[in-house]
Amino acid sequence: MKRREFLKNSGMVCLGAVAGGSMLASCSKVYYASFSVENKSIKISKSEFEDRDSVIIKDDRLPAPIYIVQEGDGYSAVLMLCTHKECEVTPFGQELHCPCHGSEFTNKGQVITGPAEDDLKKFKVTSDANFIYIT
Ligand code: FES
Repeated sequence: MKRREFLKNSGMVCLGAVAGGSMLASCSKVYYASFSVENKSIKISKSEFEDRDSVIIKDDRLPAPIYIVQEGDGYSAVLMLCTHKECEVTPFGQELHCPCHGSEFTNKGQVITGPAEDDLKKFKVTSDANFIYIT
């Protein structure tokens, strides 16, 4: 993989814990998965999860990226748009954090800490032997 392609498909997300000296603990690698759209579903190869348990889908047609987590044989997908005032949330360890006012969510979108009161929007996820489908 060429450097430019690598930088496009992966990234490092670090939130402002530098002052606390825990920068490494607060950094999460994110991976932008390849996907296609078929019959109004987002189709992702299961091979995208070979070396990771979460991926992000980013597309201009979406209001925010979609965060997809694999747990065992199952998958969950949430819209990375904070339900408080619609800032984009960021992966932070096993959680998603909002940089605007501090709301925290589980990686499946459930509110942990407000001010957001509602969970992140969840998508239906189905799968077959080789692909997962988000609708
Ligand atoms: S917009 Fe996310 S906490 Fe306010």
